Amino acid sequence: MLECILPLLQCPNSGNELECHPLERTEKDIKSGVMVGGDYAYPIVEHVAVLLSDEDADAANHIHLLQKMRSSAPKAARLAIDATIERLTAQSDTELGRWNRDEMAYYDKGVGPDVDAAVQDVRNRDIWQIFLPRQQHMLRHLAPSIQDSILLEIGCGSARTINRCLNPSLHSYGYIGIDISYGKAALGRRAMPSGNFIQASALKIPIRSGVIDATLAFGALHHLPDPDAALRECARVSRQTAWIGAHEPINSPKLIPDGEFRNRVEKALEEYEHSEHDNEISLEASLETLASFGFQPAHIHEYLSIVFTLCAKVVSKFPPNRFQKHLFQLLFLVDACMIQTICRLSRRFGPRGAIFLAKRGR
Ligand SMILES: C[S@@+](CC[C@H](N)C(=O)[O-])C[C@H]1O[C@@H](n2cnc3c(N)ncnc32)[C@H](O)[C@@H]1O
Repeated sequence: MLECILPLLQCPNSGNELECHPLERTEKDIKSGVMVGGDYAYPIVEHVAVLLSDEDADAANHIHLLQKMRSSAPKAARLAIDATIERLTAQSDTELGRWNRDEMAYYDKGVGPDVDAAVQDVRNRDIWQIFLPRQQHMLRHLAPSIQDSILLEIGCGSARTINRCLNPSLHSYGYIGIDISYGKAALGRRAMPSGNFIQASALKIPIRSGVIDATLAFGALHHLPDPDAALRECARVSRQTAWIGAHEPINSPKLIPDGEFRNRVEKALEEYEHSEHDNEISLEASLETLASFGFQPAHIHEYLSIVFTLCAKVVSKFPPNRFQKHLFQLLFLVDACMIQTICRLSRRFGPRGAIFLAKRGR
C-alpha cells in the first residue's frame, strides 16, 4: 500500500483518523505494519491493509495477525492491539457480519492454491463479455479525465477489469480497490502492484469523506445485503465533481417462474463466478439514490437480452482470441436490436444487466 494514500483513510469502526506504523517497507510502499485509530488496530499484510470493522472481521484471523505483529509494534500500537484482541474475543456475531464473512470465505476459496497461475490469469485472460461493455459504456468516458485523480473500486475482487482496461500505471492515476475477501485483494495487488488494495466492506468504506474522484462497482453491489447503503457510502467519499459508475445485473420480470428449476437454469447460464448472495439491482432506485446526492446520469446502457444470455454460453466455449472477441462484438449488436424491439414488448426477455455512470457537478 502506497504511503500517499494514508491521509485518505479512516477507521472503519469510529470514522477517526488512522496512524500507520510500518514494520516492513520498500521506498514509499508499505509491506506490513499496523494501522491504529484510538483503540482499534488493523494489520497490513503483504501490502494489503485489513480495514474491517469489528462486526465484519474474521475474529480468529484478525487476532492471529495482530498477535504476530505485537512484539515488533511500537507501544502506542501495542495498546490498540491489546484492546482490539480483547474486544474481538468478547464480541458476538451479527447477521451482517455473518453475511460478509460468508462472502469472504467464498471468494478467498476462489483464488485457489496456485496463486502464480491466478496472477497470470488476471493479467492475461481476455473475458470479452465483460471487458467490451465495461470499456465501451463506462471506462472510455472516464479515461480522458482520469490522470492524477483517485479512483476507488468497491468489491474489486482481483481488479481484473481495471488491470486490463484502465491500468493505473499506464493512465497515471491512483487506484484504491476494496474487497471483503483478503485473498482476492492480495491477488489484485500481486497482479497490479501499482494499485492499492484494502480488505474492507463496501458498506463501511474506510475512506474519508469527499476525497475520491471516481467510484466504480463491477458486479459487486448485487452481492451486498444493502446495495443502496453502499451507494450512499460511495456518495459520501466522493468529491463535489466526482463520478460513480456500476455494472450490475438488474431486476426484470422472470421468464421462468421462481423455483428450483429457474435456479438451476440461471446457474447453468452464468458466465461469471458468483457467491450464493446473488441479488439484482433496481436501476431506477440506484439512480434515485445517486440523484439525492447530486449525481446525474451521464451514460446509461441497458443490455443482456435472453438471446445474448443463451448465445453467450456458446460463444464462451471458443478460446478467448480475436475471433471470440468479434463474435461477442456481433452478439452485442444483436443484443442491442433485441433490447430495442422484442424487449420493448416484454421485459421478460431482458434487459437483465445495466452499466451506468453518474456525475456530480461540472
Ligand atoms: C462477482 S465478484 C466481482 C469482482 C470484480 N469486481 C470483478 O468484476 O471481477 C463480487 C465481489 O464482491 C466482493 N464483495 C462481496 N461483499 C462485499 C462487501 N461487503 N464489501 C466489499 N466487497 C464485497 C466479493 O468478495 C467479490 O470479490
